[in-house]
Amino acid sequence: FRTLDDVDVKGKRVLLRVDLNVPMENGRVTDATRLERVAPTITEISDKGGKVILLAHFGRPKGRDAKDSLKPVAEALSKVVKKPVAFADDCIGEPAAKAVAALGDGDILCLENTRFHKEEEKNDPAFVAELAKLGDIWVSDAFSAAHRAHASTEGLGHKLPAYAGRTMQAELDALEKALGSPTKPVIAIIGGAKVSTKIDLLENLVTKVDALVIGGGMANTFLHAQGVGVGKSLAEKDLAPTALRIMEKAEAANCAIILPVDATVAYHFAANAPSHAYGLDAIPADGMILDVGPQSIARVHAAIDDAATLVWNGPLGAFEMQPFDRGTVSAAKHAAERTKAKKLISIAGGGDTVAALNQAHVAGDFSYVSTAGGAFLEWMEGKPLPGVEVLRTK
Ligand code: 3PG
Repeated sequence: FRTLDDVDVKGKRVLLRVDLNVPMENGRVTDATRLERVAPTITEISDKGGKVILLAHFGRPKGRDAKDSLKPVAEALSKVVKKPVAFADDCIGEPAAKAVAALGDGDILCLENTRFHKEEEKNDPAFVAELAKLGDIWVSDAFSAAHRAHASTEGLGHKLPAYAGRTMQAELDALEKALGSPTKPVIAIIGGAKVSTKIDLLENLVTKVDALVIGGGMANTFLHAQGVGVGKSLAEKDLAPTALRIMEKAEAANCAIILPVDATVAYHFAANAPSHAYGLDAIPADGMILDVGPQSIARVHAAIDDAATLVWNGPLGAFEMQPFDRGTVSAAKHAAERTKAKKLISIAGGGDTVAALNQAHVAGDFSYVSTAGGAFLEWMEGKPLPGVEVLRTK
């Protein structure tokens, strides 16, 4: 790809696609991680005298909707980059054109939510042309939206000279180290509630990694498929054949599947519900598996010790409720220790995963934590991401 090293941005109008889809409550940004990640690219272009024109979506509005305005996000971003960020209340037409015309070298402007126009998600050529009028080049720094073939995430890349921003570069570097050309052996830890959302991901991973730890609610489906009684645990029993197929595929590909060997069981789904560890042959019929058990945790630690590269998506238990965060937190801390000791390259991503690592206070100790949710999953599924592919061809 071409990057910011390949273009002189001074005096240029730079359409910079960023991901400003941050969590908000009552008009306030509650987690600024994504803003912090794009800040270096914004600052670099601004410091080099480029005119920064930010393009982003927010939420999933059907047409213009005040509650999905990017205005409060632009204000929060201004605090993060420590520079003024102007705002235009439309991303095309007169308001956008005027605001762009008013920019001096190094100024920063944020345009209103691209999804206020339905043509954005349709990647409509006329809409792409309207956006393209506002810039001289297009820089994409939104890896986390790169699974969308939308006008601002993909279409513009065909219309203007296209470059990868610094966050996009960092994400792609990290992902290449995880599954592209990793240091072996590679272990993947995949958790989360449901197998149904991760079938493609598991099928792809078993052909790429040396060991695959399956945890969370989805492990129950695998245990059930192997004839283990899982009581009242969450399990997608109709997916038992799928689970068995994945296990066969893993065996053929020489990928070791590491399932729980014991479980932490409670009788209701609530924080601090009384719980007990059971072996797999003794899960009570009226119990619910809410976390992996102590022996399983020890196995996961040992598996991490055997690996040189770790890629992690999804918690191992109901980590949002104590004490059922124990498996996830313990494995995360162990991976963080190995990373600090330079024995492991650790890469994590996906919505709940980042929350879980933050809860374990180890996100900063991982080699790389992606801010991408859906894009990280699609990448793990081995699917080409349109917003990345368009950069590749340029
Ligand atoms: C995200 O929050 O994962 C990205 O911004 C993509 O958002 P979307 O799923 O609404 O397209």
